[in-house]
Amino acid sequence: MVSERKIDVDLDGRNADRSYVITIEPGILDKVGERLVGLGLGTHRCAVITNPTVGGLYLERLITSLEGAGISAIVINIPDGETYKNLEEISRVYDQLLTERFERTSPIIALGGGVIGDMAGYVAATYLRGVPFIQIPTTLLAQVDSSVGGKTGVNHELGKNLIGAFYQPRAVYIDPTLLSTLDDRELRAGLAEVVKHGVIWDDSFFSFIEDNAEQMLLLNPDAIASAIDCSCTIKAGIVGEDEREAGLRTILNFGHTFGHAIEALTQYKEYKHGEALAIGMVMAADLSASMGLSDEALARRIEKLLIAFGLPTKLPERMSADELVVALHMDKKVKDGCIRFILLEQAGKVVLKTVGEQEIRACIKAATSSAD
Ligand SMILES: NC(=O)c1ccc[n+]([C@@H]2O[C@H](COP(=O)([O-])OP(=O)(O)OC[C@H]3O[C@@H](n4cnc5c(N)ncnc54)[C@H](O)[C@@H]3O)[C@@H](O)[C@H]2O)c1
Repeated sequence: MVSERKIDVDLDGRNADRSYVITIEPGILDKVGERLVGLGLGTHRCAVITNPTVGGLYLERLITSLEGAGISAIVINIPDGETYKNLEEISRVYDQLLTERFERTSPIIALGGGVIGDMAGYVAATYLRGVPFIQIPTTLLAQVDSSVGGKTGVNHELGKNLIGAFYQPRAVYIDPTLLSTLDDRELRAGLAEVVKHGVIWDDSFFSFIEDNAEQMLLLNPDAIASAIDCSCTIKAGIVGEDEREAGLRTILNFGHTFGHAIEALTQYKEYKHGEALAIGMVMAADLSASMGLSDEALARRIEKLLIAFGLPTKLPERMSADELVVALHMDKKVKDGCIRFILLEQAGKVVLKTVGEQEIRACIKAATSSAD
């Protein structure tokens, strides 16, 4: 029987105003109303932002819980999909909130995956200069990654997540049982971020994932709760040290340098973020080994685990080194024209390093030729 787990997210040296708790509890969806009252957010009204897919599955239970605590809800639906993560949709949400005279003290609740979480968070950060924000993440990626850390925002036609704000929620309620309806491919993509957390920070968690990979895929309650718990603990610890990505938080980009380039070169259509990340992590691990920073065996361990999760680990053959190098130069870690990577020293330990173009090209060649 899996019980409640709680993780403190301590910001500003435990500044009580902005610190909050992540609760992981099967069935917590049905208790959100009473939890809001406990937080002092039991205002007469709240707004729930969701999409028709997630709303169709879980909205009724959330509304029942809210109404049981005397809270009525305005429901705002955003169409399902990354293509709707834009300012036009945000503007429509503002219209509805203003028309309803939604007040500054009333909370906005995100019920959905990372897209809904990022958008609802951005609305909460900006509507009336900020209203209380609650996250109920419903994909594995959102439960282990995007709901933690306070990054909110939308895409611009010139790039992903270019418009946004750092805005922390007042609480995150994670109900792992909601994952039972999630598409298998989405689950596997979320597991890539779980692997990343073990690789960058915690050797014993990495081993735990290796030992429990099959159970995680089967959504065994203990295995999946531990995966979420450890991932959130690791991310919360890193974000607590460096909320605005001035230093330590960069390590969360392990695998993302190649991963983002692969996503961009395939127009964000071919790979889920976690799938491109899986390829990127293997390439970064191989690059680390080729530079003598870490063991080749570690790269193979990571690759084996990602394959066990059914994730891709090889570069698509048609992708040329030239176009990848150009795409890599768009990375936010590029400094003075030099490409920097988060590289491995050992399991649980990474380092930020500038890498020369020759080494990058050799790594791309190896990743491509081994795919033949
Ligand atoms: N803020 C951050 O720190 C951060 C970090 C990583 C990613 N992100 C963002 O997260 C987004 C991706 O999030 P995602 O992977 O959760 O995708 P998503 O929100 O698009 O959800 C994926 C699909 O699953 C559906 N879904 C969600 N929960 C479900 C459930 N329980 N049952 C059935 N279907 C369900 C959704 O409707 C959607 O169709 C991207 O926009 C990315 O930029 C943000």
